[in-house]
Amino acid sequence: MALKLTVIGTGYLGATHAAAMAELGFEVLGLDVVPEKVAMLSAGKVPMYEPGLEELLARHVAGIEGSSGRLRFTTSWEEVAEFGDVHFVCVNTPQKHGEYACDMSYVDSAFDLLAPHLTRPTLVVGKSTVPVGSAARLAARLAGLAPAGEQAELAWNPEFLREGFAVQDTLHPDRLVVGVASERAEKLLREVYATPVAEGTPFVVADYPTAELVKAAANAFLATKISFINAMAEVSEAAGGDVAKLAEAIGHDERIGHKFLRAGIGFGGGCLPKDIRAFMARAGELGADQALTFLREVDSINMRRRGHMVELAREACGPAGFLGRRIGVLGAAFKPDSDDVRDSPALNVAGQIHLQGGQVTVYDPKAMDNARKLFPTLGYAPTALDAVRGAEVVLHLTEWREFRELDPAELGEVTARRHVIDGRNALDAELWRKAGWTYRAMGRPNA
Ligand code: UDX
Repeated sequence: MALKLTVIGTGYLGATHAAAMAELGFEVLGLDVVPEKVAMLSAGKVPMYEPGLEELLARHVAGIEGSSGRLRFTTSWEEVAEFGDVHFVCVNTPQKHGEYACDMSYVDSAFDLLAPHLTRPTLVVGKSTVPVGSAARLAARLAGLAPAGEQAELAWNPEFLREGFAVQDTLHPDRLVVGVASERAEKLLREVYATPVAEGTPFVVADYPTAELVKAAANAFLATKISFINAMAEVSEAAGGDVAKLAEAIGHDERIGHKFLRAGIGFGGGCLPKDIRAFMARAGELGADQALTFLREVDSINMRRRGHMVELAREACGPAGFLGRRIGVLGAAFKPDSDDVRDSPALNVAGQIHLQGGQVTVYDPKAMDNARKLFPTLGYAPTALDAVRGAEVVLHLTEWREFRELDPAELGEVTARRHVIDGRNALDAELWRKAGWTYRAMGRPNA
């Protein structure tokens, strides 16, 4: 009999995981505690922008014409417990208010609500990003609360999907990592992931703490790589060098590689910033805080980028600074192909300039609604052209393809001055300069 799967929590991670598991051929039941989300997903609609996800859902959600019918959603814990052989916990773990540590309340509550209904042998698989040590604690809690006792077993299977590529990353992951306490758990997870494993995806079996640490370490490494190149941008700027050239040159060394070496206004989003902070906090609790003090520097280099961008924009506005000046902002999402504005460097810069008296108008291809909710006092325009109308300076803060394809000559017709600052080192400098623009980027010489 084919395994039946459930997915608890239907955010970026859970909604994608549920649809992807249905695509792999499993019967899947997704649970969320928010009835509106369940209603939306049941109608084949996704509550956020993620390329390809809505199509994937529509292919499988029961009741949609032509779908496989393998995917349903519910708010009932009883139904989930009754249905599933394997339960994936995909709820979010935000940063605690006023602290670096991770807020485990959603994970804890998912276990507390599910466990009492688990009456037969089952595997609960945690996918949320959690502080190391959580899996061991939750395994004991699960066995204690479930009527099935020790037969309600836990595994930890961290998720590495990137927003904007969530579907692709889930269907064709570059590696699968499972933290297990028994052969039975490993066997079940090999069954779940048989398709990607057959395609050649490495399947790494580890203990609980190692599996949890893999996720924290991977994100810490990526954040460090970005802050490294941003530190080089600071030095390049001081020395009159060009960080983009530098990144290209060091990237040819295979041990370094080209990826994640784009200097600019730094990393943001719902993962990297909070994950490195939670990692530091946890290391502190374990008495290993010294091992991760470098992450404080990584964080601080990253946050400095936002301030530096604000200073470059201020300089561009002349001696009177931002007061009474129009600033056109291209981009609000924390990265392209996403509508996510959580800890977005773009929106942070726009907000700072606004708070310092600048008249900021923002345009983003997908993140307008989320940006408006978070920062209702900023100006918003329906197109890039409208956002830069009358602007003293244009800031390019999220590297959407749409912005690279803009015609600088056309934009220059409506701005007050032709001055652009590229916060993502992604525009074609020559093209803009040819059209009469002063083009500035971070960590690169002014031509
Ligand atoms: C990240 C990890 O990549 C993923 O494996 C993990 O599961 C979740 O966190 P995500 O938050 O979707 O994924 O974004 P990512 O593509 O890693 O980008 C993070 C931030 O870094 C973005 O703000 C991006 O603009 C910035 N970035 C990325 C740079 O500033 N320079 C780069 O070279 C690359």
